[in-house]
Amino acid sequence: MSIIKLHDKYFKQYISEEKIQTVVKKMAQEIGREYQNETPIFIGILNGCFMYMADFIREYPGNCEVSFVKLASYTGTSSTGAVKQLVGVNQDLEGRIVVILEDIIDTGNTLEEIYKIFSDKKVKQLKIATLFFKPDVFRKELPIDHIGMSIPDKFIVGYGLDYDNLGRNFGAIYQLTTKPKMKNIVLFGPPGVGKGTQAAILKAKYNLVHISTGDIFRDHIKRQTELGKIAQSFMDYGNFVPDNVTIDMLETEIEKNPDAHGFIFDGFPRTPTQAVALDKYLTDKGELLSGMVALEVPEETLVTRILERGKTSGRPDDQDEAKIRHRFHEYHTKTEVLKDFYSEQHKYFGINGVGLVTDITARLSEVIDNI
Ligand code: IMP
Ligand code: MG
Repeated sequence: MSIIKLHDKYFKQYISEEKIQTVVKKMAQEIGREYQNETPIFIGILNGCFMYMADFIREYPGNCEVSFVKLASYTGTSSTGAVKQLVGVNQDLEGRIVVILEDIIDTGNTLEEIYKIFSDKKVKQLKIATLFFKPDVFRKELPIDHIGMSIPDKFIVGYGLDYDNLGRNFGAIYQLTTKPKMKNIVLFGPPGVGKGTQAAILKAKYNLVHISTGDIFRDHIKRQTELGKIAQSFMDYGNFVPDNVTIDMLETEIEKNPDAHGFIFDGFPRTPTQAVALDKYLTDKGELLSGMVALEVPEETLVTRILERGKTSGRPDDQDEAKIRHRFHEYHTKTEVLKDFYSEQHKYFGINGVGLVTDITARLSEVIDNI
């Protein structure tokens, strides 16, 4: 579960990709059984139908033809009432079974237009198969033959559906939600990349609370708390502290700052399990992770930097090249996958981390200002 931003609005996940796939598959099989010995023409209503159409057709068990019509009625998040035909029917449909694939039926204005368009085409049968249907706003006396899912009257995006042309590329369905109040950033990158330095600057600039899991664990270790003892047994060897320990600790730190404008997470999440936990935690609070901003620096430069830092930082994991290499190994095998995790959500922003501290801050700010 996570929140996405499209133009000025925020949307939270409402129907998962898996659920949609199950529904589409079931529709394709049901309709397939109906036309076992026929070759129907599936006509998709563009733009919204393209993902549904592609998945439906792949699951369709028999012979079929595919075509498209392009209609438009929405601007923003409400229907204009007037349906425009942008691409019409350009093939002979006489005597054919035509099945219209609609992504969503809302007021029914588009559906009415569809019935009009096909009324003089001498088709043998005209059937409507819509993936989503909003029964509370439907105002027409027109038949709908197949409905994937009925949903309440809420504006949705994703899986082909858009909000002013954005959001079509998400595999799941999202629903309008209130604007989150925080800016939450994951500052990301391998050990020694300069996360601590940049976090200190960004924290002041954006009035955010900086949570460095490494610093917190080191503080507990210094005070020899129970948590510190557990953390030490892992960290001294360059290993990760187990996820459940880290997640509990992080949530405790967030709760300590109820009035924060947002957080800079540094050293968290380090694994996909932690990322999922963070997403869920923030979504439950009506907040979102604004993005992951990653500092990118070549590894050999980093090893030299860390050894240099080890001369003054006093950190045992900074002084031994074998341990440093092991930290990189942990990073590559366990943490780097987060780049894919956030890229899939369109929330990964890579930044060149080589150069003057002020230049790097400027590059980071350019991203942070816009997420
Ligand atoms: P209708 O003409 O009011 O039934 O609306 C049908 C068209 O409006 C659909 O084909 C969509 O393109 C668009 N639409 C309706 N509801 C939504 C929604 O919740 N999200 C995105 N587009 C929608
Ligand atoms: Mg449509």
